[in-house]
This record gives sequence, structure tokens and C-alpha cells, in this order.
Amino acid sequence: MSGEPILYDCDPGHDDAIALVMAQRSPAIDLLGVTTTCGNATIERTTENCLRILEFIGAASVPVARGCYRPLARPLVLGTADGPSGLEGSPYLPPATKALEPVHAVDFLARKLLEAPEPIRVVATGPLSNIGLLILKHREVLPKIRELIWMGGVFYRKSEFITPTEFNAFCDPEAVRIVLDSGLPMKMVGLDVTMQVLVEAPQYEALGKIDTPLGRVVVDWLRFYEKLHRNSMGVGGALHDPLALALVIDPTLVRFRPAHIGVDLSGTFAFGATVADFWNERGEPPNAEIAHEVDADRFFDLLYTLLSD
Ligand code: RIB
Ligand code: CA
Repeated sequence: MSGEPILYDCDPGHDDAIALVMAQRSPAIDLLGVTTTCGNATIERTTENCLRILEFIGAASVPVARGCYRPLARPLVLGTADGPSGLEGSPYLPPATKALEPVHAVDFLARKLLEAPEPIRVVATGPLSNIGLLILKHREVLPKIRELIWMGGVFYRKSEFITPTEFNAFCDPEAVRIVLDSGLPMKMVGLDVTMQVLVEAPQYEALGKIDTPLGRVVVDWLRFYEKLHRNSMGVGGALHDPLALALVIDPTLVRFRPAHIGVDLSGTFAFGATVADFWNERGEPPNAEIAHEVDADRFFDLLYTLLSD
């Protein structure tokens, strides 16, 4: 049985890279195509990284289309966890030789969605610039998107490790607003759950047993990626994007609840915040499902399985 067809929009980025590996290796997923956006690094870097990763894992046949080089309505503010190349830690990965699709990511996504016999799930793990622009330019695709699973936002902030805003939302909040206003079925996998899938000593021990070139490059990525978290919060790297992607494979890993989400486009201390109206004070119907519980152990078991097979 072939896997579920998905389209994946990302900004690799170390955690995006691991999510990409999971998507390609899971028999539950048929990766129809990958689109890149700016965010963790410039569009040139995230796109080069995407091509290199796919070639390294033997997936050069997966089409890649380059997307937005900046957010829709504001200058690009780069993420800081992944280093200038966006994928520090694996200098030995060969440069990409694979050609890009000759169209913008937005037009690539539109073509893939419109030609699909059935609606398709889209996973996004970077700023929503491409998805927002897709909706603005190709509104006709909306009925062909089964749902959008997005790593983004933060809603409960139950620990001091969790900032008031999450980077993917902060980087392009206008895009988040456009997607929320579109009526697209959307699952938001925010820091509330992704900061519970941290790579600490037990996880490094388990990953270290996957003695393959892929297992070793994932550990090399994680060793660099964790630096920001370790230095600023004293915790390991969070597998934000792999958790979001994993929900295509096993939706029971996370529990969701519906809520109306607003985006702060004018705040000073919370600019880009995704604010849930839990008590329906706005009188608006829910426009997203937000993740609030995660089974971290089962997530890591899935990750190890996908990297080991
Ligand atoms: O806040 C976490 C998100 O920002 C992840 O998608 C990570 O890759 C960065 O893009
Ligand atoms: Ca990302």
C-alpha cells in the first residue's frame, strides 16, 4: 500500500531536515513535493539545504520548488538556531546537483493540488509566507487542501522555557492571519507540545545506537542545533518540525482542541503572538485546532524506527 500523498513546505533548518528525512523514509507518506521558504536561513540557503538533504537520503526524484525570499509584509528576520548556512554541523554533505522545479513554490503547490484526484494534506514547518501567498494567488486550491498541519504558534506557555511568540508565526504574522482567515482546516502544533520533545542524554544514547551514515548525520545536526537551547535555557534541542510531520504518520501522538486564534500584528512585547480565545469572548467560531498534549515517548520511538529501518 503506498503512503498518503503530502506536500511539505519547510525552511531547513536542522529540525526541518529531520522532518524531511522522516517524511521520505516513512511508508505512510508519499512525498509529492517539497517547497522551501526563508526563515531559519535565507531562501538560497534553505533551498540548497533541502536539495542536499534529499540527495543525501536517496530522494533526488522528489521535486523541489523555491519559494518566498522574505515574509509577505515585512523584512526577513532570520532564525538564529541553525547557523549562517542553516544546516551547520554536516559540512561533509555534498553540494546539491539536483535541479529545482522551474516555477515558484506557490505555482508548484497550486499545480500539484489542482491535478490531484483527491484533496491533499499540506505540512508546513516554517513561516507561512508560501501558504499565505498560495491562498492570495490561487484561491481555487482551497477545496483541494485536505488540511494544513503547521508547526507554529504558542498558546498556553506553561513553562518559562516558552517565549511569548513562536518564530514561524513571528517571522510572518500577516501570512498566519491570511491562512487563518481563509477557512482552511488547520492544525497548529505549537511550542506547548514541541518543547516537550527535547533531545537529552537518553535520546542521544538511543540515536547513537543507529550506527549508519544517516544516524550519524542526524546526531551531528542535533549537536549543533542544541547549542542555542542549551546556552539560553539549559535544555536540549526541541524537535519542533519532526513532531508536526509525525502527525501525518500517527495522529494520536498529539491531542488537539478547537479555538479561535488571533494574531497580534501591533504588539510591542508580543508582536506575532498567536492568541487563543478559549472562552469565546470574541464570539468567533474556532478557526484552528491547537495541540495541547503530546506522547513524547511514542514520538521518539517513531523517530528511532524511521531512522533505523
Ligand atoms: O519555533 C520553531 C520553528 O522555528 C521551527 O520550525 C524551527 O525550524 C524554526 O523554523
Ligand atoms: Ca522550520
